[in-house]
Amino acid sequence: MTLINAQCRLAARPEGLPKSSDWDLVEKAASEPRDGEFRVEVEYLSVDPAMRGWMNAGRSYVPPVEIGEVMRAAGIGRVIDSRHPGFTVGEHVYGVFGVQRYAVSDGQGVTRVDTTLAPAPVHLGVLGISGLTAYFGLLDVGRPEPGQTVVVSGAAGSVGSVVGQIARIKGCRAIGIAGGADKCRWLIEDLGFDAAIDYKRDDVRAQLREDAPDGVDVFFDNVGGEVLEAVLGRLARGARVVLSGAISQYNATEAPRGPANYMQLLVERASMTGFVIFDYADRYSEGVAQLAQWLSSGELRSREDIVRGDIARFPEVLLHLFRGGNTGKLVLALDGE
Ligand SMILES: NC(=O)c1ccc[n+]([C@@H]2O[C@H](COP(=O)([O-])OP(=O)(O)OC[C@H]3O[C@@H](n4cnc5c(N)ncnc54)[C@H](OP(=O)(O)O)[C@@H]3O)[C@@H](O)[C@H]2O)c1
Repeated sequence: MTLINAQCRLAARPEGLPKSSDWDLVEKAASEPRDGEFRVEVEYLSVDPAMRGWMNAGRSYVPPVEIGEVMRAAGIGRVIDSRHPGFTVGEHVYGVFGVQRYAVSDGQGVTRVDTTLAPAPVHLGVLGISGLTAYFGLLDVGRPEPGQTVVVSGAAGSVGSVVGQIARIKGCRAIGIAGGADKCRWLIEDLGFDAAIDYKRDDVRAQLREDAPDGVDVFFDNVGGEVLEAVLGRLARGARVVLSGAISQYNATEAPRGPANYMQLLVERASMTGFVIFDYADRYSEGVAQLAQWLSSGELRSREDIVRGDIARFPEVLLHLFRGGNTGKLVLALDGE
């Protein structure tokens, strides 16, 4: 039986927020695996802010997605045919399979997913790249010490929600910055953050003065822009700023301006360090083991925001990230046949 593969391809480089004409939805016969390859039916797609950057031309930490190419995406699926000695039909695997229903792989960069440990979507969130970004970004780059104050922006998102929880596990005071009262309540009541600031309603600077009276020792920034500037103004002596992302700038149509008060780094003898999780690839198993242990002991909670639909829903689901429509890890669960 010939399988029909639905794909979402990049049709144009977006200006600002991606719109429907930036995508091509294509249906074609799915490729068959050759010797040394296997075919995956993708079940869960990871929907990530970084995707917006991959749609732009220009130099970055990975090459851009080319026009006409299947949109890059990590996902989890089931092996449905295999001519590869290392992968067996029925196994769940993780890989960068793209925004498509069926992918053929030679196994490079593909890992087995242990769904007895946690359901598949958790392996895209807490036990996946998001959790690892939080783990290594906070502990290796931020280097928090017990009793210190850790602030995280994008706190109710996939990475941010894990950062604050690890800060608490490590004996720090955790302050989250997120959009909306419901998200802030979730951070405090369910995840154990010490304080949460609603950047859409509160005066972030004034609230930080109240919540971090001795200053901020570690700032894990996922957002950039005005939020970054507000927290730089509150750094403690020797603070570490972890530059994880700047989602407030990803759809900007003009070149973003850096923080006007960056000299606070000098005044407070602070550092600001950019990091890319891929540089920690040889330590992923260490991170996953620790995250899984915290998850099973109940010290760490995972939340996945799962949208169900077919490949055609991807363009709209991606926009949830830029509108604050998700809490926790955003996943597109592909409908079965
Ligand atoms: N450095 C690395 O290796 C690495 C790896 C993975 C991810 N990241 C970065 O980590 C960050 C979070 O990624 P994620 O996957 O966990 O996404 P996420 O936080 O689950 O989702 C994005 C969230 O960003 C917030 N947001 C959107 N536009 C905003 C704006 N203009 N101002 C302030 N907040 C805004 C929204 O929450 P609100 O409702 O709170 O606004 C939204 O829910 C991103 O910047 C991403 O690029 C970095």
